[in-house]
Amino acid sequence: MRQHVNPLSNFFKDIKPIPPLNEIFLDPDKPLHIDIGSGSGEFLINLAMQNKYWNYLGLEIREKLVLNAKSKIDQESIENLFFVFGNANNLIEDCIGKFNKDVLKSVSFNFPDPWFKKRHHKRRVIQPELIDNISQLMTSGGLIYIKSDVAELFTYMDLSIIKSSDFISYNNKNNASSRCYNPNNSKTNREKYVIQRNLEIYERIYQKI
Ligand SMILES: C[S@@+](CC[C@H](N)C(=O)[O-])C[C@H]1O[C@@H](n2cnc3c(N)ncnc32)[C@H](O)[C@@H]1O
Repeated sequence: MRQHVNPLSNFFKDIKPIPPLNEIFLDPDKPLHIDIGSGSGEFLINLAMQNKYWNYLGLEIREKLVLNAKSKIDQESIENLFFVFGNANNLIEDCIGKFNKDVLKSVSFNFPDPWFKKRHHKRRVIQPELIDNISQLMTSGGLIYIKSDVAELFTYMDLSIIKSSDFISYNNKNNASSRCYNPNNSKTNREKYVIQRNLEIYERIYQKI
C-alpha cells in the first residue's frame, strides 16, 4: 500500500463531510474524541471497546485503511466509533458551526507524517488554520494531544499550537486518567514500533483557554 499521499493534491479538495453526530453514534452527547491520521484504526477500535462513555472519530486520508477499519467496526458492532476518509484539514473546516460546542473534548495527533523536506512542510497536517478550526469547535478546557518520534516535527507542531494563543501547555499530571480519552494508556501501532526500537517519543498536551 502507498505510504504517503499528497494531501494538497486536487483529489482531496472535495470531501464527503463528516455526517451529523446523531447519525453516526448511538448517543451523540457523549464526550467526543477525534484522532487525526488514524491509520489502520486499531488504536481507536481498542479505545472504543474499552471506553463506552466516549465517542471516537478517526480521520484518515488513505481510503483503503478507512474501508478496512469500517469493516472491523461492523464485525464487532461498535456503536461509539466512526471513521471518515479524507484530508483532515478539509474535514475539520467543514465541521465549523455543525457541532454542539460542548461535545468535542479532545483531539490527538499520533505520529503524523513528518514531510522532512522544507518545500513539503505545507503538507504537514498541523497548520495554523487547522489549530484555529479545532479551537472554534472546542469548548474551553478541551485538550490537544501530540506525539512524535521526530524531534524536528515535534518542535514544529509545538510552536504551531502555542502560536495560536488559544492553547496553553497542559500538565499531564492534572489529567485525571478517568477523564482522558485514553484512560488505559493504549498505544498506537506506530508507538508500539517506536517503543520496540527504543526510540525517543516526544509528547505534549495543550489546553484550550
Ligand atoms: C505515520 S502514520 C501514524 C498512524 C497512527 N496515528 C499511528 O500512530 O500508528 C500517519 C497517518 O496519518 C495519515 N495522514 C497524513 N496526512 C493526513 C491528513 N491530512 N488527513 C488525514 N490523515 C492524514 C496517513 O495516511 C497515516 O495513516
